Amino acid sequence: KILILDFGSQTTQLIARRIREQKVYSEIHPFNISLDKIRELKPSGIVLSGGPCSVYDTDAPHSDPGLFELGVPVLGICYGAQLMVQQLGGKVERAEKREFGKADLSVNYTEGLFAGLETGNFHHQVWMSHGDRIEQLPEGFSVTAVSAHSPYAAIRHTDNAFVGVQFHPEVAHTLIGNDVLRNFIFGICGCSPSWTMHSFIEANVQAIREKVGNGKVICALSGGVDSSVTAAIIHRAIGDQLTCIYVNNGLMRTNESESILRFFRQKTKLNVIDVDATEFFLGELAGVLDPEVKRKRIGLGFIKIFEEEAHKIGEVQYLAQGTLYPDVIESVSFRGEAPIKSHHNVGGLPDVMKLDLIEPLRELFKDEVRELGLELGLPEEAIYRQPFPGPGLGIRIMGEVTRERLEILRQADVIVLEEMRKAGWYRKVWQSFAVLLPIQTVGVMGDGRTYEHVIALRAVDSRDAMTADWSRLPYDLLGTISSRIINEVRGVNRVCYDISSKPPATIEWE
Ligand code: XMP
Repeated sequence: KILILDFGSQTTQLIARRIREQKVYSEIHPFNISLDKIRELKPSGIVLSGGPCSVYDTDAPHSDPGLFELGVPVLGICYGAQLMVQQLGGKVERAEKREFGKADLSVNYTEGLFAGLETGNFHHQVWMSHGDRIEQLPEGFSVTAVSAHSPYAAIRHTDNAFVGVQFHPEVAHTLIGNDVLRNFIFGICGCSPSWTMHSFIEANVQAIREKVGNGKVICALSGGVDSSVTAAIIHRAIGDQLTCIYVNNGLMRTNESESILRFFRQKTKLNVIDVDATEFFLGELAGVLDPEVKRKRIGLGFIKIFEEEAHKIGEVQYLAQGTLYPDVIESVSFRGEAPIKSHHNVGGLPDVMKLDLIEPLRELFKDEVRELGLELGLPEEAIYRQPFPGPGLGIRIMGEVTRERLEILRQADVIVLEEMRKAGWYRKVWQSFAVLLPIQTVGVMGDGRTYEHVIALRAVDSRDAMTADWSRLPYDLLGTISSRIINEVRGVNRVCYDISSKPPATIEWE
């Protein structure tokens, strides 16, 4: 495996993904991980990420320099390369000209990181983003590539075990990025491309069996990808020792609960208990306008119902959760923001229920979860569903959630999804949905004045929901959705399109 030490770069996660795409397992750890912990993890190679600081700042993040004595190859990227230089006795200074964006790289070394790449006058497009630069190399180092403003754009130690690049091989704009990373992990570190979803399943099925023994596991199914894949791999390991619980909170979309249950019962062998708690949830939400109060009531209500069902099953030792890798990484944050978004539908469970957790997806990114799901035999329509929030339509109705307003939103939402699918846009966007606004506006229908509800459309592009931009849907598609909603949904006379990005807006409206 390859360890990535995070110095706070925006692209640290990308490094991990790029390496995993080469079928080599990689893990991200904070820059100050102890040497003992590194030894314990037995890496074949270590990558030092970029970061926003200058190595000579007094509070700059430093990893233990003992790292260079472990006999493990190290690749420094940007800040990571500068840190390597500084810790091994070279010099880094503020650059006169900062280098941001595309740069031309000339390579003068044909082995190590650059094996197989053109050298000499040939220019490779790379992506730079740095204000400091290496001014003097430590002993035993030599330069292997230059760019206009970086006389030491890439460096290596005599036996190639320590290498550094000033550019970012993990970003798509660095056209030789994958070559460089491949040369590091295969050529220099000697890894083999053996990390596949198939091997992941084998290893995890084994681990789950060992952990659970004859115990019982419960899992909250939502119909979303993460919980479905979690249930599927655990079921592969321990069969009917797993019981899944599906709670219908009355805030699902049209026919959604029915189709989720039909799917699990007909297409999988999972043992699913379903509870229709619509009355209970609508009661909890009556009169509630505040979004946070809504979220809390829905979250706590979920825990209450889930717990009641779990008790009916009897002695249960484990709770399965679909936690993903981005929620687990202890990302280094220099801006003080918490990198983790806490979600509310399952987040509160472990404390309450005091069950041991099983989180088989902890090491995976979302796209890997999808790949795993397909490998486990789940059909594409279950794998490529857009995310849907735990609190459901409850947080897409601004103001009070009532049966009547749920019905209006459901009708509008079906139209959005139908038209998105029909136009081939459903899978192109991260999410697309309707929101019911708490205002009425004036319109005219036939000869009469109307005073009715407004639906807002929201469609966003995103990689991981941490940031998002509004989707540039074709005008014709927006037009079709709008006129169908206004014509077909009673009580709506106006449709707006939300063109805010996240940040500063969020994807959901509440
Ligand atoms: P926001 O609105 O924070 O949403 O930009 C980011 C992503 O998370 C989803 N979301 C939730 N998912 N429980 C969930 O399981 C929740 O409470 C919740 N709130 C938001 C949202 O749909 C988007 O994909």
